[in-house]
Amino acid sequence: MTRKLFVTTALPYANGNFHIGHIMEYIQADIWVRLQRMLGHEVNFVGADDTHGAPIMIAAEKAGKTPQAFVADIAAGRKPYLDGFHIAFDNWSSTDSPENHQLAQQIYLDLKANGLIESRVVEQFFDPEKNMFLPDRFIKGECPKCNAKDQYGDNCEVCGAVYAPTDLKNPYSALSGAKPVLKSSEHFFFKLSDPRCVAFLEEWTQDGRLQPEVANKVREWFTVRTNPDGSKSEGLGDWDISRDAPYFGIEIPGAPGKYFYVWLDAPVGYLASLKNLLDKRGQDYEAYMADPALEQIHFIGKDIVTFHTLFWPAMLKFSGRKTPNNVFVHGFLTVNNGEKMSKSRGTGLDPLKYLALGMNPEWLRYYLAAKLSGRNEDIDFNADDFMARANSDLVGKYINIASRAAGFLSKRFGGKLGSDISGDGDALLEHLRDGAANLAELYAEREYGKALREIMLLADRVNAYVDQNKPWELAKQEGMDSHLHDVCTVCIEAFRLLTIYLKPVLPALAAQVESFLKVPPLMWSDASRTLGGGHVIGEYKHLMQRVDIKQLEALFEAPAAPEPEKVLPGGEELAPTISIDDFAKIDLRIAQIVNCEAVEGSTKLLRLTLDVGEGKTRNVFSGIASAYQPADLVGKLTVMVANLAPRKMKFGVSEGMVLAASHADEKTEPGIYVLNPWPGAQPGMRVR
Ligand code: MSP
Ligand code: ZN
Repeated sequence: MTRKLFVTTALPYANGNFHIGHIMEYIQADIWVRLQRMLGHEVNFVGADDTHGAPIMIAAEKAGKTPQAFVADIAAGRKPYLDGFHIAFDNWSSTDSPENHQLAQQIYLDLKANGLIESRVVEQFFDPEKNMFLPDRFIKGECPKCNAKDQYGDNCEVCGAVYAPTDLKNPYSALSGAKPVLKSSEHFFFKLSDPRCVAFLEEWTQDGRLQPEVANKVREWFTVRTNPDGSKSEGLGDWDISRDAPYFGIEIPGAPGKYFYVWLDAPVGYLASLKNLLDKRGQDYEAYMADPALEQIHFIGKDIVTFHTLFWPAMLKFSGRKTPNNVFVHGFLTVNNGEKMSKSRGTGLDPLKYLALGMNPEWLRYYLAAKLSGRNEDIDFNADDFMARANSDLVGKYINIASRAAGFLSKRFGGKLGSDISGDGDALLEHLRDGAANLAELYAEREYGKALREIMLLADRVNAYVDQNKPWELAKQEGMDSHLHDVCTVCIEAFRLLTIYLKPVLPALAAQVESFLKVPPLMWSDASRTLGGGHVIGEYKHLMQRVDIKQLEALFEAPAAPEPEKVLPGGEELAPTISIDDFAKIDLRIAQIVNCEAVEGSTKLLRLTLDVGEGKTRNVFSGIASAYQPADLVGKLTVMVANLAPRKMKFGVSEGMVLAASHADEKTEPGIYVLNPWPGAQPGMRVR
């Protein structure tokens, strides 16, 4: 039976370009969608920009643009990424579209009519200079627990305390610097605590549809909830869905000056983008959604599970709409063991730079697919591993099969396939065809890594067959023409089957193969057939290059630094000027060296155990073994970079960096000097 599928990826914030983490999510979903289409199912695959909210409004103001112009500029930059990585969305829209305004308001009205919206007066900080209520992120002050300065309104980055913005000491607005005043305001709440909601969500989240690890996590939210003041309470809390003007968002019907909190209208954007698509095609949105056979699936990352498994299904259910059939959660991508991508600005691997360097997008699709599974787990992009995979699997195992056979076929047999394949060759093809059902199943379960491993095992079998039959020798022997023809025919038939299996991951390559083989677009069901004797294939042209190490080096090379300064203090060029904000990003702390030991297998490193006043110690490796005896350092104070991303080294994970002075070139002018604060400094104090 043909399935009807409505598939989305999370809607990215329109405050920055895509980073490699976004691209990974789109590739995961795109592979799934392409598989379903190859199986003959009907899919509408849509995305959109998530445009609303205070951070985007403020970023637009800083950029001197209206929020509308700001998000339009971001939207204009989306296409090169999507086309570049062959991500085949049927539509890309925006949460600021007319469809979304209309749908979000209607859903709200339906929830209200169902008795699930309540209004309450809340006290909140207000910036008298900017004339606006301040979101938690834009209020700063001293931590009520540990007195650390410059902490955000929701939690302290020094001691980890969680509190309400009103608990901060000496609060100030991060927008204007003004002292905020308390002002009361009417807010609207979605009553998630209503027994109807609780009963529905307990069923919807625990009926087996979600991944087990996701369902388990969600179950905790039914029982324990952390309040803003750090205390715990039972059950689901009501959800504050309104914000006061000025806010870039959708106005709440019947409540002038009130807007929907961005996370209320963001998922509605899924429906709005679909409606936008169907309207353009002249299809009826209501009728489409009313079909009981329709399946609605969202691909998302692990950080936004609450919104998609509690708020969103409940909004849909109690506004009388269809609820999602499933939410597929993936983990985070890191690059070369680095830090995870920041929300707005990726690190490490710039997708556009990848494309600009002429790197093949399907190498990346293949590599990421090979690492992905159906579980919610993080994966790492590793440059060496990437090169090895693409070169050995794609070029060495798969493409190789065609290139070994195609030349003989066109030179000796006019490109015509032989008939009457029997014996080994026939058994091999049958084995390949038998894999089709299992491979489709693995893809459908998002077990892409497993699927690709199976496919490479099949490719190994084909290559073993070629090695046994040695077409290059048959070609030189008298009277072996018919055998040579058979062997090359088996290779091409096998190559076609492998191409079907790889097509969800490698759509552009598959299109090239289709034109080389002179066949219509391959569908999954084509795996039960062969091309058959007499079919004439086209001229073989090289299908895929190997990854060149130089490309990878260029990809990860830091962008050229700005003009260096003329002055050379101490013989070393001064680094480019930075702002005080840049400096503030580096969290320097006084650390006590509670233990220090040599690192076996390294002449450069010492292993330091540091106390930075966190109630636990940190493990840090430092290249100072040439200058210090471990025992001399124990008990001393020093300065460390405390917010450096942990780094996996050969000897273990390093959780920060100790500061030390040295000449520019340690080889010609040795000497390294660890920093040591004046007496009185305490572990954990910030250096600024
Ligand atoms: N705007 C919200 C989503 C609204 S959905 C109605 C948002 N945007 S986001 O741009 O921050 O993230 C978009 C998607 O990218 C999310 O699914 C998120 O999990 C995913 N990723 C962000 N960084 C990622 C990695 N480093 N790795 C993999 N996916 C990551 O959240
Ligand atoms: Zn604190």
